[in-house]
Amino acid sequence: MPTLVEVASRASPAFAALKAVAHEAHADDPLWAPESEEAVDWAFGESAAGRTPLRAWVALVSGVPVARAAAIAPDGPVGWIGLFECLPGAREAAVAVLEACSEALATWGYAAAEAPHADPLTVGLQVGGFDAPQTVFTPRHPPAYLGHFEAAGFEVRQRMVAPVMTADRVPAFPAGLAGVRVRPLDVGRLERDAAAFHELQTDVFGGRPGRVARDPGGTRRLLERLLPHVDPDLVLVAERGGRVVGNLLCLPDTWQSHDRARIDRARIVSIAVRADQRRRGIGLAMAAYLARTLVAKGYTSCEGAWVREENRAPLALADRFGGRVGRRFALLGRSLGRA
Ligand SMILES: CC(C)(COP(=O)(O)OP(=O)(O)OC[C@H]1O[C@@H](n2cnc3c(N)ncnc32)[C@H](O)[C@@H]1OP(=O)(O)O)[C@@H](O)C(=O)NCCC(=O)NCCS
Repeated sequence: MPTLVEVASRASPAFAALKAVAHEAHADDPLWAPESEEAVDWAFGESAAGRTPLRAWVALVSGVPVARAAAIAPDGPVGWIGLFECLPGAREAAVAVLEACSEALATWGYAAAEAPHADPLTVGLQVGGFDAPQTVFTPRHPPAYLGHFEAAGFEVRQRMVAPVMTADRVPAFPAGLAGVRVRPLDVGRLERDAAAFHELQTDVFGGRPGRVARDPGGTRRLLERLLPHVDPDLVLVAERGGRVVGNLLCLPDTWQSHDRARIDRARIVSIAVRADQRRRGIGLAMAAYLARTLVAKGYTSCEGAWVREENRAPLALADRFGGRVGRRFALLGRSLGRA
């Protein structure tokens, strides 16, 4: 029988055990990026700052840490369970930590749980493409994790795919689109570009059902977290008549190597065009600008942002660049209502 230990903060003695679970779970996995553990420090930091409360547990069997998960309390009707990791074969412990998190969310008053979800960047369970590398700010999970979640009452609610574009397959596109200026991030005027990014993201992604739009402080923290990884040449702004109409946020895969000169993978975190400006070639113009920059800088591949399987527009755009589906992810959910 596993013993559950609650990990109250990064100063708790059990915090090291919580971290150890991920390192042990991926010990034989050369494609796992230990850098992804930054999400643990981020989530505990957000909780300590009083922004997004968290309760985390580690399960021990004979004193050895074998599974972990955290219940996270965002604004809105759906609670999150994130930071899940589990050693091979430890399903009972996996279910025990997921149950503890579900109970915590129910006690907080949430009617449903979404998982895995630790923060706006750390979302989704990998369910396919296991031979592809883990890229910056994405998770990597062994195939067994889906069964652990299902054993704890979770179901797949949404499937997502990540297209991969490679330099050898990108066709040539005409440079430029009449009336639209595509430019890289202006680091000298970061505040202005960050404000425009927030406004556009809220416009495009804020109004989805069950989602609470990020406040400007949330966007600022997100950008501060991304900033050490940013190459301004890969962050694009599209303007029409001085108005920002599109954004494309791509990062060098800084989890591939600590030496920037050796990085040849990139990852698109997000691409968005204002709703009233779509199907006019702006997405294509930004993507073509990015492709030219990536090739010129020596990148050989770029993983697209994950998109819901039914989100045709970005997938069609990826097709135009020779994109092929690489990794697959799922968002799981369960009701927390008492039977
Ligand atoms: C994805 C997105 C950025 C595309 O921008 P866009 O400016 O409308 O794209 P373009 O006009 O350049 O279209 C390029 C090509 O993509 C395809 N495409 C674009 N929208 C499409 C749609 N709704 N259905 C099918 N294909 C579509 C087409 O092949 C199109 O070429 P065509 O118009 O000649 O047929 C835009 O739809 C968007 O902001 N969506 C919401 C945000 C989002 O889901 N982002 C992805 C996850 S981060």
